[in-house]
Amino acid sequence: MGSIRIHASLLGLGVTQLPEALRGAEAAGVDAIHFDISDGCFTENLTYGPWLPADLRGLSRLEFEAHLMVVHPGAYYGELSRSVSRVYFHAEAVEDPRREAAAIRDLGVSPGLALSPGTTVASISGHLDSVDSVLVMLVRPGRGGQTMDASLLDKVSELSAIRERKEMEFSIAVDGGVKPGNARLAASRGADVLISGTGIFAGDPSAAVEEFRRSVRIGGV
Ligand code: DX5
Ligand code: ZN
Repeated sequence: MGSIRIHASLLGLGVTQLPEALRGAEAAGVDAIHFDISDGCFTENLTYGPWLPADLRGLSRLEFEAHLMVVHPGAYYGELSRSVSRVYFHAEAVEDPRREAAAIRDLGVSPGLALSPGTTVASISGHLDSVDSVLVMLVRPGRGGQTMDASLLDKVSELSAIRERKEMEFSIAVDGGVKPGNARLAASRGADVLISGTGIFAGDPSAAVEEFRRSVRIGGV
């Protein structure tokens, strides 16, 4: 298994905290910044628009990615393509994941497929060859600070088995309630991207990232 990447979600932070959070995340050595864009329809709460990554682009050298929790993700690929290198769209929000992935890739952006808790791996396994990553939600989409439903890690194992059996290359990200205390479990099931918000920003980001990295090292995954 390759190295584990740590992506920091800004969802739980206030707007005035964002510049400092970007600086702290970069100093802590995270691998990317994760923007949770939700429209209040796909999820019950409204977060921020696709303009935010562009507004903050000049403040950080880190890779930016967008997690679109919206009913019409295709409406935002163009605007996001100017500031992020990866866009996750939700399988539940689109007719044809393959078409969405192609539209994102045509913009020079890496497509990722996000699965809400109720979506099975079997229902999207035919599209895995069209995306570069799969994001497995371990909480109900929309809010930070929730507790991980570890039973959903079974989907990570399923995806990891498919990846191995078919010698595919997509990465597997876990998102929602990911903390240093459960990172090793997620990584041992095959996750190679850990997305965390409160797990990084509730305290000192550098200490948190070090704890994440230590926990997956100890696990020998
Ligand atoms: C939830 C988001 C997650 C969340 C992560 O809908 O997709 O990215 O903000 O935050 P924590 O790590 O606090 O659960
Ligand atoms: Zn997210």
